[in-house]
Parts: sequence; structure tokens; C-alpha cells
Amino acid sequence: MPLVKMTELFAAHEDTTFAVGAFNVSNMEMAWGAIQAAEELQTPLILQIAEGRLRYSPLDLLGPVMLAAAKRCKVPAAVHLDHGGTLETIKLALSLGFTSVMFDGSKYPLEENIRRTREVVELAHAQGAAVEAEIGRVGGAEGDYKSVDVLVTSVDEAKKFAEETGVDALAVAIGTAHGNYTVQPKLRIDRLKEIFDAIKTPLVLHGGTGLTEDDFKNCIANGIKKINIATASYDNSAKKIREVCSAKPDAKFFDFSDAVVRGTCENVKRHMKIFKRDA
Ligand code: 13P
Repeated sequence: MPLVKMTELFAAHEDTTFAVGAFNVSNMEMAWGAIQAAEELQTPLILQIAEGRLRYSPLDLLGPVMLAAAKRCKVPAAVHLDHGGTLETIKLALSLGFTSVMFDGSKYPLEENIRRTREVVELAHAQGAAVEAEIGRVGGAEGDYKSVDVLVTSVDEAKKFAEETGVDALAVAIGTAHGNYTVQPKLRIDRLKEIFDAIKTPLVLHGGTGLTEDDFKNCIANGIKKINIATASYDNSAKKIREVCSAKPDAKFFDFSDAVVRGTCENVKRHMKIFKRDA
């Protein structure tokens, strides 16, 4: 099946019945588990890795594995750089053939975020790739960064940002945070709806781990087109490894590889079933 651009997988603006899952992976086993889930459920997906995790899986090593996994997947799959923070990493992802990149300029003042994002849009579009950016600030930390507080996206800023940058997807902050929640978040669905009504750019939800099925469905019904899931796949894979350890004290290396494939596959399927259009 072809490697596709994430924008080809998004529902049309007015179609609020499903969202595409974007699943973070950190090794071959996770990428393989994710595409097995996609094939079993016949559901397209986005494979992604965040810049903050590259210490564990260098992009020049894992990127080609992700692209190979997407190309051998029997349903459409996109390969995306999540939370790109430096031009160096973004350029590397584009040169490897990633079909989209995120530039996360949420730590910069608005005008600087716009200027830097525009630079990335020019670079990526010239190579046929799509760009996601962030406005407002999702909480927590994706990767080995310092945790930050949520800064809910303003409608006016989102509108200005979308118009002036020409991004293909926009991550909005509506109360979610990366990582596991210590307190269940109360999502600002009212704000999401206002942003959705104000701009046509496909909207992205970060910090999917730990949200309830109702949260996801509510976000999709109010305009979210892409949902990021990272921590839940890492946690489920680690759980499967612990289960192997306690059931089989003489477990071999490949028992653990297999546990990671199964752990990711199971978690990706669980989320895909929620993000899918109700039959
Ligand atoms: P979680 O780790 O909370 O699932 O967040 C994933 C994410 O938003 C990646 O950018």
C-alpha cells in the first residue's frame, strides 16, 4: 500500500464522525505492532516519533524502519515527525522521506512562532510534505523535556496563526497534557468548537493517553481530525514485558521483542476502535 501524506487521511472539515490515530513508536517492534493493528482493523494510521525521544532511537536509524513499515502496511499509512523543535531534525526527517513534520513553536511568542513555522512550511511544502504546528500550549512533556502547564488556545490567535502560516494541521490546547494524568482533565470542548467554527485547518489533539472514550468522541464530534497516542503504547508494552518476566523467569530476548509488538498492537487497536466512525 502506498505511503501517504497525513492530510490524505483526515476527514473532510464538515465530517466529524472519525479521526485518524497518530501513534508514537520508538523501535521496530512498536512500528510493526502498530501496522499489524491497522491491517487487522483495516484502518489507516500515522506512525510518528517525537524529537524528544531521539536519544533512545536516532532518527537516521529508526526513520527508515518507520518508512519501511508504512510501505509494507496493507492499509494507507503516513510517517510523521512529532514535536520537531530544530530545523536540523526537521530537515533530516524530510530528507528521509517523512510525509509530514510538526514544528512545535509553542514556547515562542506568537509572532515568532508564526515566523519560524512559516519557514518550516516553505521548506516542507517545497518537498511535498505537510506541516503540523501548535498554538497555545499542550501541558506535560513529550519526551525528555521539562513538563509545562496548559495554555488554552485562543480563537483569535488560532485564526491568525492558521492564516499567516498556511499549516496543514493545527494542534490546539484544550486542557490535555502529554503523559499520564494525575487528575482527570476537564476538556474545553466549548473552545474546540469555537476554533473549529472559525478555521478550516484540520485540528489535532495531543496528550491522548488517559482520556475517556467520551472525551475522544466529544473531541471528534467537535472537529478533531488527528489524535496522538504515545504513553499508552509505551505503558502497555512495558506491562507485557513485566507479564513475561513473572510468567517465565527464563524468558529469552525474543519473548520480550514479541511482548512489545503485542503491547503496541493491542493499544493501537483499542484506540482505533474508539476513533473510528460508528458502524
Ligand atoms: P500521550 O503521551 O499523552 O499519549 O501524548 C501523545 C502526544 O500528544 C504526542 O505528541
